[in-house]
Amino acid sequence: MANDPRDAAHPIPRFPDGFLWGVSTSAHQIEGAVDERDPSVWDTFTAEPGRVKDGSTAAVACDHYHRYPQDVALLAGLGVDAYRFSVSWPRVNSPGGIDFYDRLVDELCAAGVRPVPTLFHWDLPAGLDWLERDTASRFAEYVSVVAARLGDRVQKWITINEPAEHTLLGHALGTHAPGKQLLFDALPVAHHQLLGHGLAVQALRAAGAADIGIANSHGPTWPASREPADLEAAAFYDVLLNRLFAEPLLLGEYPEGLGELMPGDVAGDLKVICEPLDFYGVNYYAPTKVGAPQGTEIEFGGITMPAELPFSVRQIEDVPVTDFGWPVVPEGLTELLTAFRDRYGDRLPPVVITENGCSYEGLDDQERIAYLDGHLRALHRACEAGVDVRGYFVWSLLDNFEWAEGYARRFGLVHVDFETQARTPKASYAWLRDVLRAQR
Ligand code: NOJ
Repeated sequence: MANDPRDAAHPIPRFPDGFLWGVSTSAHQIEGAVDERDPSVWDTFTAEPGRVKDGSTAAVACDHYHRYPQDVALLAGLGVDAYRFSVSWPRVNSPGGIDFYDRLVDELCAAGVRPVPTLFHWDLPAGLDWLERDTASRFAEYVSVVAARLGDRVQKWITINEPAEHTLLGHALGTHAPGKQLLFDALPVAHHQLLGHGLAVQALRAAGAADIGIANSHGPTWPASREPADLEAAAFYDVLLNRLFAEPLLLGEYPEGLGELMPGDVAGDLKVICEPLDFYGVNYYAPTKVGAPQGTEIEFGGITMPAELPFSVRQIEDVPVTDFGWPVVPEGLTELLTAFRDRYGDRLPPVVITENGCSYEGLDDQERIAYLDGHLRALHRACEAGVDVRGYFVWSLLDNFEWAEGYARRFGLVHVDFETQARTPKASYAWLRDVLRAQR
């Protein structure tokens, strides 16, 4: 196989010394044990009929809460340096709930795997709402509790995962929890998460943390044509996906016109939001082709987009697609990172790819191997082009609860039989293990 790194003629190029190799998961998608913690907005949402396509919930998921030693052993066997997981805020709110993360972090340290917690990955405690400014302060209080408990063993922290998706899917379109369809009235959710991030950075630094970042989803926006209406629609989409969150964080300002739409003392808040970051996490899956609105509702990648949006997402032709229908475009990663470097210059901290992966069925997942292989080469080209990239995390260690898609999408390097909870490493697990060995 031409792309096989075990083929000496085509090895994956060497990444810089100290490069951090890892895999990612999130609490709600793998832990289960929902009765052993306070409820989250995702519990409420999945209890409503029709919200999750296969009617499932994350009540058991991968039962990682009870099986974490086995999962840590899988991480050790894979040979990763680091494991990115998320801390469930509702679990920390429950009596004794934080003990689980204490045990997990100990298990990881004993296995020689660095713990990289994400402090918010969409599972907001039920009863809280990011439309409320106060949620930002509550977030920082919870972060202080976690930092005080885990900070003696955790060096690297991620505040929030994909605030763009949580705003868009959860509050603008309503396909994720909490299921609100506010369209542009959802913008305060973006601002309050950013403020919560800034306050969390301050809380982490006050607790002695020195390596702090965020995980934002980004991808190149490709205009459907050179027609002005398509260019304008694509530029607008680019603001929403690539600039709305990056620019307050990196430049201390919102893209033109958006600051006026945000609530509260925006100028004062921006000073908190742009607390310097030690690294900038990027979740990359695919580029998006965008054109002028077509006047109809559009179904794309599992998301229904209403006709009144000022853009429409189009199919990228002539590229392979994953089982989820997402285009496979490794060079989009090089394009994205070099564009970010050109746009933000030395305001861009070192980059860590905090998620990259794909959903495919089957244990002999040659397509996943090809996807990861292509993206690692594309990432290396970005390094060669001068982008300071310090790490790469595959989404995901395990097949898991893929939000509104339920269990139908399998992103894992390890197969999970959700009836028996049996874990079976896929071909991609062995492939990545060999890639990592060759990098040592
Ligand atoms: C991004 C999200 O952070 C993660 O929760 C999700 O499962 C993957 N993308 C795949 O959709």
